[in-house]
Amino acid sequence: MLRTPLAIALLIFAGNSFAAGDASKGETLFSNAKCLICHGTEAYTAPDRIINDLTALEEQVRFCDTRLNANWFDEDIHDVVAYLNQQYYKFPTPE
Ligand code: HEC
Repeated sequence: MLRTPLAIALLIFAGNSFAAGDASKGETLFSNAKCLICHGTEAYTAPDRIINDLTALEEQVRFCDTRLNANWFDEDIHDVVAYLNQQYYKFPTPE
């Protein structure tokens, strides 16, 4: 039962982690990686886009990072999520 508080703490941490992303670093990472070889930025603004919140955006960035073998660290993922959100998605971010 000792695990429960830890799990909750991790959830809270994970839930807030994207707020820590640095959008300007994310922009650099994004333009240095080959993110546009499969889809252009229009995928991010398409009316039928599949991403509807920050959690889904983070998952998608992780998924695409894996396909690209960019091997981003968690911090990099969060920076790119912050950049994509600021630039395209504009989901409300937790304080
Ligand atoms: C190997 C091909 C490939 C590469 C490289 C790739 N993606 Fe993707 N990405 C996809 C596919 C397939 C989808 C599914 C939606 C689509 O077809 O547009 C997708 C969707 C996305 C979406 C969601 C679009 C939406 O519907 O809102 C995001 C965000 C995204 N990619 C980010 C990235 C980032 C960041 C990178 C660079 C690390 C990247 N992608 C590189 C294949 C790729």
